[in-house]
Amino acid sequence: MNGFPLSPTPGVWILAVSATVAVQEKTPLAPCLPGPQGSTGMRGPQGPPGKQGPMGPKGVSGQPGPTGPQGSPGKCSPRQKSAFAVKLAKNYPAAKQPIIFHQILYNDQQHFDKARGIFTCQIPGVYYFGYNVELYRNTTVIQLMKNSQAVIGSYQTTLNSYENMSGSTVLKLEKGDKVWLEVNQESNGATHTSYFLGYLIFEI
Ligand SMILES: *[C@@H]1O[C@H](CO)[C@@H](O)[C@H](O)[C@H]1NC(C)=O
Ligand SMILES: *[C@@H]1O[C@H](CO)[C@@H](O)[C@H](O)[C@H]1NC(C)=O
Repeated sequence: MNGFPLSPTPGVWILAVSATVAVQEKTPLAPCLPGPQGSTGMRGPQGPPGKQGPMGPKGVSGQPGPTGPQGSPGKCSPRQKSAFAVKLAKNYPAAKQPIIFHQILYNDQQHFDKARGIFTCQIPGVYYFGYNVELYRNTTVIQLMKNSQAVIGSYQTTLNSYENMSGSTVLKLEKGDKVWLEVNQESNGATHTSYFLGYLIFEI
């Protein structure tokens, strides 16, 4: 009301009020302010799970695992042992009897009787036997014997040259069976470089 002098005249007062309204209408409206904040509503129920996403890229390979414990021995290896290998070591063995081998290469189980030249089976099983006889002159017939029966044999004649002849077989033996080599004539040519060997393949 400052600047508007109080006037005793009503007409002048009305005019003054009108002028004031006109001035107010021309004034631009002030920008709206946000209303008062209301209280937060209750949380809604959880929605259903979403669809499964696409598969991710393949991961890198892991480190190799630690070494496992040692396995138990296989069933195929024979628990018992039997093997021998002998060398003639002297020329021209006596005929029609087990050949005596003068040098032992292996006979840890002592199943080969060096003094008699005979292998005696102690462990029933299947055995391998082989021989390699070097010859010089004359005719040599050599036979692998099992309990006085010839199992396999070789026959060869040489003149003034050294030659080898060999033979091998597999035999099923019972405990006490005997195996040896024999030449059938005194004038044989078996040299000291002759061998006889045998070993257990598996037990029965
Ligand atoms: C015969 O074989 C033995 C090995 O068993 C060898 O030392 C020898 O030289 C061979 N002899 C001949 C004539 O080949
Ligand atoms: C070959 O046989 C003859 C007998 O026929 C004998 O006199 C000779 O000593 C033999 N030779 C060998 C190397 O055994």
